[in-house]
Amino acid sequence: MIKEFIKEIDEGLNSDSKTLPSKYLYDKKGDELFVQIMHLPEYYVTRAELEIFKEQTENIINALQLNTNTYFELIELGAGDGLKTKELLRCLDQGNYKFDYIPIDISQNALDKLEKSINDELPNVSVKKKQGDYFQVLKSLKNSQHLKVILFLGSNLGNMSDKIASEFIYKLGANLHSNDMLFLGVDLIKSESIVCPAYNDSKGITREFNLNLLNRINIELEADFKISNFSHIPEYYETEGIARSYLVSSKDQKVSIARIGKTYNFVKGEKILTEISRKYNDEIINSIIEDTDFFIAKKIVDSNNYFTNYVLCRS
Ligand SMILES: C[S@@+](CC[C@H](N)C(=O)[O-])C[C@H]1O[C@@H](n2cnc3c(N)ncnc32)[C@H](O)[C@@H]1O
Repeated sequence: MIKEFIKEIDEGLNSDSKTLPSKYLYDKKGDELFVQIMHLPEYYVTRAELEIFKEQTENIINALQLNTNTYFELIELGAGDGLKTKELLRCLDQGNYKFDYIPIDISQNALDKLEKSINDELPNVSVKKKQGDYFQVLKSLKNSQHLKVILFLGSNLGNMSDKIASEFIYKLGANLHSNDMLFLGVDLIKSESIVCPAYNDSKGITREFNLNLLNRINIELEADFKISNFSHIPEYYETEGIARSYLVSSKDQKVSIARIGKTYNFVKGEKILTEISRKYNDEIINSIIEDTDFFIAKKIVDSNNYFTNYVLCRS
């Protein structure tokens, strides 16, 4: 993990347009901050998908064609705190469905907390957590012959470019069997007035979440980022449909990272891209899955038309 962390941070800071991979936003502090973000009034994304999981749980179970006689593995990629998933787990538990819940996350801390909360709230649900990068876990899916339902929620897909998203869904499909399904939750394209505040809330939690990445690099890679020399600047234009979070250097400065053994130069106003959050519509999703084994079998939308959960089946 640390070797890959070092390699990816060095690559990102050496490129002409500096980047830092968004998956590293989630250390213990980052996990806590993201849970706070989920409950912010400006962060409509969680509320919209939670409404679908609360109000349309039976609809989800029917769309996934689950039945109480067939065992399945419910596998969640990037599970986080499982707030929405627990609504589905509760309903499956009450309905006596036979399944194991397999959350996969890069953050061991998030997985440990999730397991504990499910054990406390839903003691009958079997949890088999798996720590790792979901890009690397895909191959291991093929090892089991059981029916699989893959949950990929919270518009996590939006952290990938469309090209990477397409390759990811292609690889996912290639590692599944014909009856397996993907339940994909994505944020829909909407106006700047709704999206921008979600990435720049009035309490400054998203700002803290973004800057925490520099803190993490300071601690784990022995760097000397001066956090106050960077600002959190998000951007989003409805015409493009992609929110981007940047850390912007407020002056010319040098930063040393001891574990890499290098010093990096930043000029005043230089941006580091830390996260993209792509927004979608049917056309974009169809073009992403065009060369994959999947087709849209059903879509479930929240009452504001902010968010869609697609049921993708394999052809
Ligand atoms: C934005 S949160 C969303 C959590 C959850 N899916 C939800 O909808 O509330 C993203 C989660 O995915 C995890 N994650 C991000 N990139 C990952 C990767 N490449 N592999 C595995 N987990 C990842 C993070 O640790 C975090 O828990």
